[in-house]
Amino acid sequence: MEVGVAIASKVGEYLVKPTVNQVRHLFCFNTIVEELKEQEINLKLARENVNKDVEIAKNNTDKIKGDLEKWLTDANEILADVEGLKEETGVKKTCLNGWCRKAAKKTTIMLKLTDNGKFDGVGHHTTLPGIEFLKPNQFQIFGSSKSAIDDIIEALKNDKIYMVGLYGMGGAGKTTLAKEVGNRVKEIFNEVVMVTISQTPNFKNIQGQLASSLGLSLEEQGEEERARRLFKRLTETEKKILVILDDVWGKFDLKSILGIPFGDDNKNCKILLTTRRLQVCIDMGCQSRIPLNVLNDDEALALLKRHAGKGDASNLNPLAIKIAKECDGLPLALVAIGSA
Ligand SMILES: Nc1ncnc2c1ncn2[C@@H]1O[C@H](COP(=O)(O)OP(=O)(O)OP(=O)(O)O)[C@@H](O)[C@H]1O
Ligand SMILES: [Mg+2]
Repeated sequence: MEVGVAIASKVGEYLVKPTVNQVRHLFCFNTIVEELKEQEINLKLARENVNKDVEIAKNNTDKIKGDLEKWLTDANEILADVEGLKEETGVKKTCLNGWCRKAAKKTTIMLKLTDNGKFDGVGHHTTLPGIEFLKPNQFQIFGSSKSAIDDIIEALKNDKIYMVGLYGMGGAGKTTLAKEVGNRVKEIFNEVVMVTISQTPNFKNIQGQLASSLGLSLEEQGEEERARRLFKRLTETEKKILVILDDVWGKFDLKSILGIPFGDDNKNCKILLTTRRLQVCIDMGCQSRIPLNVLNDDEALALLKRHAGKGDASNLNPLAIKIAKECDGLPLALVAIGSA
């Protein structure tokens, strides 16, 4: 009998011992995996913050600090290693081949990197939200504007064309159309910025507006230095940028006055300018010059009625027809009188 008990307890011991060991082992393994994952998340968050700072610094044309770049390389490397390590154990769920030792080592490195990832100096400067150029109901498509939009977009897609000029009478709808183009080319360009030049331009202000649209803070006071800073920002980027210069009245040098690269300086940067005068398109060197014609009688009447709150153009009031004719097909006049 005693022999039987002894045997049973020995058998029990053999059965239980490995199980206890396995449980302990699994517990240990799970803890190591959890710690690894936690530090991986922390490091990824830290990397995201650093990347944001780098993006801002680059927008500001700052040079990225050496230690920051090294930190990013290290973080990228270790995170890639951890990815491999996780794949290795995905199936086995054990500490075979020193897996746990390796995991613990990586966890420690990640913890240290996260701690060191708090760089000061590059503050979180917030950029302005992207410009919403036009609300959908603010733009009505007419024959003339449709062909102008199509021509402008086709020209902007052409590798050989850097500058497009849109010209037409005052009130013909150039500014409105340029904004509409800005809306439509967001897939072709990474950044679309628009500034108004006007008949009496204050170039220092315009430089400031251009810079803030690009998320660049201009600390320089001199106009020449400001232009150089803008030029640096617009050339040292892989991004495709469209600069819309609205309401240009006379020739000026894009590079030295506003820091806008032209042609070979950066082929990713293109310019759309609007002006009342064809001669300005020629003087500025626009390779493509696109006219915006006034509206024909039917289009003029449709715009007038729409702004008068009468969408139905079939019920033609003789007075409305006369007024529409008086407006010479100019949207500016039609919108103003229609609303009145
Ligand atoms: N396609 C359009 N659909 C609806 N409204 C339009 C359209 N085009 C122009 N308008 C109206 O006409 C007005 C004048 O247009 P816009 O300011 O674009 O003219 P412009 O050609 O830029 O004039 P300027 O030469 O004086 O700068 C705008 O306020 C807008 O309300
Ligand atoms: Mg205008």
